[in-house]
Amino acid sequence: MAFSFFNNYFLTIDIGFKLIKVLQVRKKEDDAIEVVNFGIGNTPKDCIKNGAIRNKARVIEEIKRLIRENDITAKEAKIVMSGTNIITRIIMIDDVPEDEVENRVKSEIESFMPIDMKDHSVDFKMLDYNRNGGVKKRRIFVTAVKKSIINSYVDILNSLNLKPVAVDTPANSIAKLFNNEIWLKDTDTRIRSQGNQRFDTGTVAVLDFGSETTIVNILKNKVIEFNRVILIGSSNIDKEIFEKIVADKLKVDFPEMYKKKYGIILKRDYNNDLEWNCSEISKGVIDEIIKNINTCFNFYTTRCGGDKITKILITGGGSQLIHLKDYLEGIFKIPCYSINSVDIPGVEFSENLDINRIYYLTNALGIAL
Ligand SMILES: Nc1ncnc2c1ncn2[C@@H]1O[C@H](COP(=O)(O)OP(=O)(O)OP(=O)(O)O)[C@@H](O)[C@H]1O
Ligand SMILES: [Mg+2]
Repeated sequence: MAFSFFNNYFLTIDIGFKLIKVLQVRKKEDDAIEVVNFGIGNTPKDCIKNGAIRNKARVIEEIKRLIRENDITAKEAKIVMSGTNIITRIIMIDDVPEDEVENRVKSEIESFMPIDMKDHSVDFKMLDYNRNGGVKKRRIFVTAVKKSIINSYVDILNSLNLKPVAVDTPANSIAKLFNNEIWLKDTDTRIRSQGNQRFDTGTVAVLDFGSETTIVNILKNKVIEFNRVILIGSSNIDKEIFEKIVADKLKVDFPEMYKKKYGIILKRDYNNDLEWNCSEISKGVIDEIIKNINTCFNFYTTRCGGDKITKILITGGGSQLIHLKDYLEGIFKIPCYSINSVDIPGVEFSENLDINRIYYLTNALGIAL
């Protein structure tokens, strides 16, 4: 055997609009990861602006508290950026030799994407070939982020005395999760009757229901091909419950609590108007989000050469809304699964941890891989 001095422990950090997630992760021999500890704390108000972190001092303070209170000791860290203000596109280039691809991509970006190459970092992944009218074209997934945004995240890690290992995007986080096999658990009655099934085959959508944003990811045979951020999230429900129900002179001090309690109800109880009114508000906001998701799905199939989406996976804190899954299935007419009903063999949790919080952790888990 060999003695390795390499420390296999590191941190991953996801600063959401509402909640900050910090994970301590152990890299295992076979590229699998084990979550050893984690903490979830509140993001101080108005700390993310146009995708960058402002009011760094307060964010840093909260991360320090999470590190301290959850016995997190690693010194190297990966962090995920807010999805807002990250530009992703599929572009098509001619079938040029491998060593010319980069220059081709760059000139294509300069002419067709609304960005200045001087102050953006650009990354690209090669996808498959596409035959459009007989001409063979290579499809490329391009990501562009302002350097100043990346720097705001590096600053946070430096201030925490952590060694920055990576600053990653939510899209790449999902992409990395799908490097694993993703199996549907047999706790789902639909699966139990059909035997073990993979989730990750075919064209699937992964929807992250966050607090201020909903992120739409589309993957084809495990490769990410589409990512878009919708600027409506679960907190829009809170705001409306507060405004509309308070206006009705019904006393609602804790709109978020009512949202969580009632969710979307399937059958009206005429003796409980509060339940019905809250549910109608939730439905209204979700309908608005669905409209935007549909625009994304249509864009993907008509403009990106994508296939029809056949399955949906929902994650993010807002995906816990009661009956959201059933509501989405009713509208999209395709099966919808929640993140806690899939198994990802490369991702393990230490025994003492509450895996029911996985809803919140997808981004921080993906960048760990
Ligand atoms: N049971 C529940 N029902 C509905 N919503 C819930 C439930 N539990 C938590 N939420 C909502 O989940 C949201 C937080 O989720 P999450 O941590 O994924 O958001 P975030 O990452 O901070 O936001 P963003 O991704 O937009 O930056 C809050 O708006 C919260 O009200
Ligand atoms: Mg989030």
